[in-house]
Amino acid sequence: MTTLSTPFTKAFGIEHPIVQGGMMWVGRAELAAAVSEAGGLGIITALTQPTPADLVKEIERARELTSKPIGVNLTILPSITPPPYDDYRRAIIDSGITIVETAGANPEPHMEMFKENGVKIIHKCTSVRHAIKAEKVGVDAVSIDGFECAGHPGEDDVPGLVLIPAATQRLSIPVIASGGFADGRGLAAALVLGADGINMGTRFMCTEESPVAESVKQRIVEATELDTELIFRPLKNTARVASNSVSREVVEILNGGGEFADVRDLVAGARGRTVFENGDTEAGIWSVGMVQGLIHDVPSAGDVVRRIVAEAAAELQRASGLIH
Ligand SMILES: Cc1cc2nc3c(=O)[nH]c(=O)nc-3n(C[C@H](O)[C@H](O)[C@H](O)COP(=O)(O)O)c2cc1C
Repeated sequence: MTTLSTPFTKAFGIEHPIVQGGMMWVGRAELAAAVSEAGGLGIITALTQPTPADLVKEIERARELTSKPIGVNLTILPSITPPPYDDYRRAIIDSGITIVETAGANPEPHMEMFKENGVKIIHKCTSVRHAIKAEKVGVDAVSIDGFECAGHPGEDDVPGLVLIPAATQRLSIPVIASGGFADGRGLAAALVLGADGINMGTRFMCTEESPVAESVKQRIVEATELDTELIFRPLKNTARVASNSVSREVVEILNGGGEFADVRDLVAGARGRTVFENGDTEAGIWSVGMVQGLIHDVPSAGDVVRRIVAEAAAELQRASGLIH
């Protein structure tokens, strides 16, 4: 099979420059293991597990499915009652994980402990200034999320076509392009823009091994690039989510001068989880990216990895054939 080797694949010991980003409720053992087994980098989402002990078990489950490298996502968000981040970090290290994706805040407080234990860090962020800061505090790679992405695109609204080359020209560590990728054309474009690989959320959420209900996958297949909403804009904590009756109501309330307290019940995490578990896509808020407009099927995660690599190689060859 074709391989596309980049500074990222070499530094992280993986075959293909394709990462499955951390996804709350979605990044479980089966999906992460399937991506890694196919030669990409699968990532288990730490906070999807209710306790650090459950995370240890989830990592063990993934290890039974693949012997290839697996990463863990640690999302550090400001919160009134924060999860025990230090205990999750300890669980990651004690499980022998050597690749961590950090996101949500400056990873500096966690760096020393991870570094001492031989863990490589991919820090995911949404601006060049945060990527530069992450490089300074010693991360090994950055994933940079363009405005297209599912989840939190930040407040700068810079799409990948500008953000990725803006980042790659300022950084020396490997850069992974994230947000809006679902096929080989995207991987080829990312490499040409100077990135060393791609990170995908929505594409991997819509695969056989993804633990979300079939109706959610079908909704992604049917939806177009127009079917997302940006919620929490007035609160400066923007999130890109599926357009449904709940997300549209949240936008309306906040645009009309409402406060977080007015939407708290609508955006409750428990309701979002119900969407994934019971399949009622109108039950709450759920993250999805604009790239759903490019997703037309529900293949296995391994097929996604293999076909993206093959397509990207063909696209790069086709493009180089334009040179005379
Ligand atoms: C359902 C879902 C949940 C997500 N949860 C997280 C999360 O907990 N932490 C995180 O860092 N990123 C999270 N993300 C963002 C992805 O890791 C990735 O950066 C993003 O999906 C890339 O954009 P794409 O969906 O266009 O590929 C989530 C994405 C989705 C679709």
